[in-house]
Amino acid sequence: STAERVADLLGRMSVEEKVGQMLQLDARDDLGDHVLRRHVGSILHTSPERILDANRLTAQTRLRIPLLVGEDCIHGHSFWPGATIYPTQLGMAASWDADLLERVARATAEEVAATGIHWTFSPVLCIARDLRWGRISETFGEDPFLIGELASAMVRGYQGDGLDDPTAILATAKHFAGYSETQGGRDASEADISRRKLRSWFLPPFERVAREGCRTFMLGYQTTDGVPITVNDWLLSEVLRGEWGYTGTLITDWDNVGRMVWEQKVQPDYAHAAAAAVKAGNDMVMTTPYFYEGALEAVSLGLLAEDAFDAAVARILTLKFDLGLFENPRLPSSELDAVVGSGAHSALNLEVARRSIVLLENDGTLPLGSSAPLSEVDPIRIAVVGPLADDAQTQLGDWAGGSGQAGWLDGQPRDMITTALDGLRAVEGYAVRYAQGAEILTLEDDPLGATFPDGQPRPKVVVPCEPDPRMIAEAVRAAEASDVVVAVVGDRIELVGEGRSTATLELIGGQNALLDAVIATGKPVVVVLLASKPLVLPASAAKAAAVLWAANPGMHGGRALAEILSGAIEPSGRLPISFARHVGQQPTYYNQIRGQHGNRYADLTQSPTWAFGEGRSYTTVEYSALALVSSALAASDTILGEITVTNTGSRPVLETVQVYVRDTVTSVSWTDKELKTYRQVALAPGESARVAIELPVADCTIVDAAGVRRVEPGAFELLVGPSSRDEALLSAAFEVVG
Ligand code: IFM
Repeated sequence: STAERVADLLGRMSVEEKVGQMLQLDARDDLGDHVLRRHVGSILHTSPERILDANRLTAQTRLRIPLLVGEDCIHGHSFWPGATIYPTQLGMAASWDADLLERVARATAEEVAATGIHWTFSPVLCIARDLRWGRISETFGEDPFLIGELASAMVRGYQGDGLDDPTAILATAKHFAGYSETQGGRDASEADISRRKLRSWFLPPFERVAREGCRTFMLGYQTTDGVPITVNDWLLSEVLRGEWGYTGTLITDWDNVGRMVWEQKVQPDYAHAAAAAVKAGNDMVMTTPYFYEGALEAVSLGLLAEDAFDAAVARILTLKFDLGLFENPRLPSSELDAVVGSGAHSALNLEVARRSIVLLENDGTLPLGSSAPLSEVDPIRIAVVGPLADDAQTQLGDWAGGSGQAGWLDGQPRDMITTALDGLRAVEGYAVRYAQGAEILTLEDDPLGATFPDGQPRPKVVVPCEPDPRMIAEAVRAAEASDVVVAVVGDRIELVGEGRSTATLELIGGQNALLDAVIATGKPVVVVLLASKPLVLPASAAKAAAVLWAANPGMHGGRALAEILSGAIEPSGRLPISFARHVGQQPTYYNQIRGQHGNRYADLTQSPTWAFGEGRSYTTVEYSALALVSSALAASDTILGEITVTNTGSRPVLETVQVYVRDTVTSVSWTDKELKTYRQVALAPGESARVAIELPVADCTIVDAAGVRRVEPGAFELLVGPSSRDEALLSAAFEVVG
C-alpha cells in the first residue's frame, strides 16, 4: 500500500534528505545546488528543459526520489507557448457555470500534465473585498457560496477521477485564509480579521474543498492578529486539521518562511523560522532555500527533534506515490502537441469567453446591425477606439506568462489571440476604422531601487500618460465618419497582479478624455471594459449607448466580444462582483453587515453602479408567482418552491435565477441577504418555465457570537430574481420552527 511504501522510504531517509523533500525551489535558479546539495523535493517555474535537467540530477541522488513539479496554471496553462489561456478566474466566474469551469480545469489538467507538471496552484478561493487589490482578477468574486461552487468544480476538474490517471494533477486551494482582507487594498498586508469573521465569510469555501478532497492548500502571505498564517496554530491545527479533518498537504506561499525573518521580523533567524514553520505543520516550503540550512541548525540547536519532519515528508511522499511518479516521473510527453492548445480546448475556450462577457447597459443599440438606423447603412461603419482594442497581452490577463507578472508575451503566438479589433474586423458586414485614441501608462524604475531586500527584481513604477490631443482628434474623426463607436478601455496588465494593487479604480492615462470626446460626438458609443476588475467609468459614460465588461477574456476574447456585439451570440454573463461608483466608496460587496447607522457618504449613494448578480440580455425576462410548498419548516427540512420565469422578448436567453435568503432577525449582526443557490435556464422567445427551488434549511445559517455556525429558528425570506438588488427580487416568507 502507499502507506507502507511511504513508511519504508521514510525509514531509509537521512534527516538532510527529509528536510530537502520539504523544499520547493525556483527551477530558474541553480538546479544542481538545489537537487544535489539540498535534496530538493519539488520545483516550480519550469520549462521542459529545466524539468528534464532536474530529473537527470535526481537520478544521481542516493534515493532517486522523483520531483514534484508545480506551476501557477490558474486560467489555463500559463507557461507554455501555444497553450490554451482561458478568461481569468473572475471572468470565468461571470458564467456562473460550475460544469463549464470543471471542463476548463479538466482540459487545463490535460495540457499541464502533458508538459511534465504535476501540480497547479489553483483555484483561488479568496473572497474579493477591496477592489483596489491587484489580485481581484484571480478570485471568483465576492460571494462565498459562488466561490465554493466554482472552486469545487475546478478542483474536481484538475484532480479528475483519481491521481493515478496520467492527466490528473494536484489542485491547490489558496490562499488560506483571509489574504484578501487587505489594508487599503494593498497586497499581502496585515489582515485585520476576527475568527468569527473568518468563519462567517472566508473559511466556508475552503472548508468545502477540504472536505471534498482538494489535495493541497497554500498558506497566504498575510499576518492576522500579528501571527503569520504560516505559523497560525488556530487556523492550521485547530480548524483545518482538527475540525475539518484535513489530511492533505500544506504549502507556504513564496518565501513565507524567510519573510518571517527578513520582512515581518517575527523570527530572529532561519533556524527559529524553520522550527516554527515545521511545528505549525507546514509540509512544503516554497522558495526559501535557507530553510534547508535553518532546519538542520534547528535540529542541532535542539529546537526540533530529528523526527519532526516525518509527518510532512510522509504527506509529500504520499502525493508522489499517489501520482505514480516512482514508476513514471511524468516527464514532458513527446505527444504533447496533440494536447496542448488542441482544437477541442480552443473550442472550449471560445465557449467560456462567450459566457464570461457581461452586458451592463444597452439602450437598444446592441446588437449592432439589428436596429433600423444602423442596418440602413451597408456595411455598418464602426470606429474601434481605445488603447485596449488591440492589446493581446492585456487580454490574456495575469498569470499568462513565464513570470506571472507583466511584460511577457514571448512565445505566445500573436496569431492565436483574437483581440477586439481582430474580432470586429472579421465580422461580415462591418467596415472597421481603428484609432487607438489614448495611451494608458509608461514604466519607470522604482526610486526605491531595482530589487527587494531578498534580491527579487522590484517591478517598475507605473506612470499614467497624459491625454494626447492628436490621438483623441484622430479617434473623433474616426467616430464622426462612422455609424457607431466601440471604445475598448480598462486596465493594462501592469496594473494587475501580485504586488500590483491600484490606488484608483478610474481609467488612467488618456482614457477618460478619449471617452468624453467620442461620446461628445453624439454617435452611439459602446463602451467595452476590458478590465481585470470593476473599474469606474467617467461621468460621460452615462450617455454611452451600451456598456459591457469583458474582464480579461483570454485568447478568443475578441472573437467572443464581436459575436456578442453583432448578436451572433446572446450575452449571458452575470456579475460575480459589484462595481463601485467611486474608489472612495469601498467596500461595495453586496453581502455587507446590514443596517449600520451612518454607513453611507454624505456625497454619494452607497448603492453600486452595478450590483452582484446583474447582467442584461438582448431580451426581457419576467419573474412571477413565487410559491413555497410549505412556509413552516424544521431545521432538518428542505425548502421547496417554484417560480415562473418568462422570456417576454424576441431573442433567446440563458437566465441565471438567483436564490437569496434573508434571516430577518439574527442574534448577532449579519448580512441582509446571502446567495444560497441558483439555476440557469435557457428560454426561447416567449417561453415560460416553472423553475424548481430546493434548498436545505441547514444552509440558512449564521455564525453566532461564540463563532458557531447554526440555523437560528425564526422568520426568514426567500428572495428570488435576476440579481442581488432588492428591487429585482420576489420574496416569500417562511418560518423555521424548533
Ligand atoms: O502561487 C503563487 C501565489 O499565488 C502567489 N505567490 C507566488 C506563488 C507561486 O508563484
